[in-house]
Amino acid sequence: MNAIYKELGFVNTREMFKKAMEGGYAVPAYNFNNMEQLQAILTACVQSRSPVILQISKGARNYANADLLRWMGRGAIEMIRKMKEGPVPVALHLDHGDSFELCKDCIDNGFSSVMIDGSHLPYEKNIELTKQVVDYAHQFDVTVEGELGVLAGIEDEVSAEHSHYTDPAQVEDFVKRTGVDSLAISIGTSHGAYKFKVKPGEEVPPLRFDILEEVERRIPGFPIVLHGASSVLQEYVEMINKYGGKMENAVGVPAEQLRKAAKSAVCKINIDSDGRLVMTAIIRKIFVEKPTEFDPRKYLGPAREELIKMYKNKNENVLGSAGRIA
Ligand code: G3H
Ligand code: 13P
Ligand code: ZN
Repeated sequence: MNAIYKELGFVNTREMFKKAMEGGYAVPAYNFNNMEQLQAILTACVQSRSPVILQISKGARNYANADLLRWMGRGAIEMIRKMKEGPVPVALHLDHGDSFELCKDCIDNGFSSVMIDGSHLPYEKNIELTKQVVDYAHQFDVTVEGELGVLAGIEDEVSAEHSHYTDPAQVEDFVKRTGVDSLAISIGTSHGAYKFKVKPGEEVPPLRFDILEEVERRIPGFPIVLHGASSVLQEYVEMINKYGGKMENAVGVPAEQLRKAAKSAVCKINIDSDGRLVMTAIIRKIFVEKPTEFDPRKYLGPAREELIKMYKNKNENVLGSAGRIA
């Protein structure tokens, strides 16, 4: 059946993940809610020659308006086609879909990839819901991400107090019975800016690479996804606190651990919070330093510039996705 996303110029994640697996890097999945974030992600990924997954949560869709977002997506493809560096593959992905209806609506409206997050459901219910989405999505060649194991933290309307690591004994059965194209697992990351309870100067506990290795052993060559993977960049946390903010003990996943994960079967790394921190830090700084400024372009523009720098650095030095497009 006709896939709307192909007409819009998006690609699904299948080929992206195949290349990432072979090349030992991870494709960035960056969340966006507004025009400046979208422009920054596209500019950074085109300039660093990286494939990219544009990620939209249910909350982002409600915030920005589903119809407007669809046209922003189309605009994104037209924008990068005209950039002198040339286009890169772009997937439009629903982050943390929580129902069949939401996933269907996104597929019907131009998304090339969806996540159905049944991780909070009992195992058999998770399989049932995920398979229902896969059966619909695959008719249109839309790829589907499932999740096994629960991350701590808050994501839209999905929240959990404590994480439950993925049980590697379940992954083979889950992948086989659902037909998913990629699998998000829980190995110690969490959503938001407060990922680990550590005092200033203390090291954060390492991710459970032993679980990741066991998952890889059981489903060799299958694309794995890491959520909650922001590093919570301290330079921006400090800037936020310096200019009137209050973010105490905000910590994330160290870049070295993400570099290690990107070389494994982890093919997609999700980053939202770092973008939020950059934007907030720059806007706070400008508000304090230029209290008379009231033109949004004069603070959103510099925030966009700083976002471009941050995303490029992720692609080049953390995920290894830069330079993978001719
Ligand atoms: O994983 C969650 C993402 O950071 C999206 O957050 O639901 O607040 O848009 P949001
Ligand atoms: P962060 O909060 O660590 O950026 O995670 C984002 C995410 O997993 C989106 O699905
Ligand atoms: Zn997530």
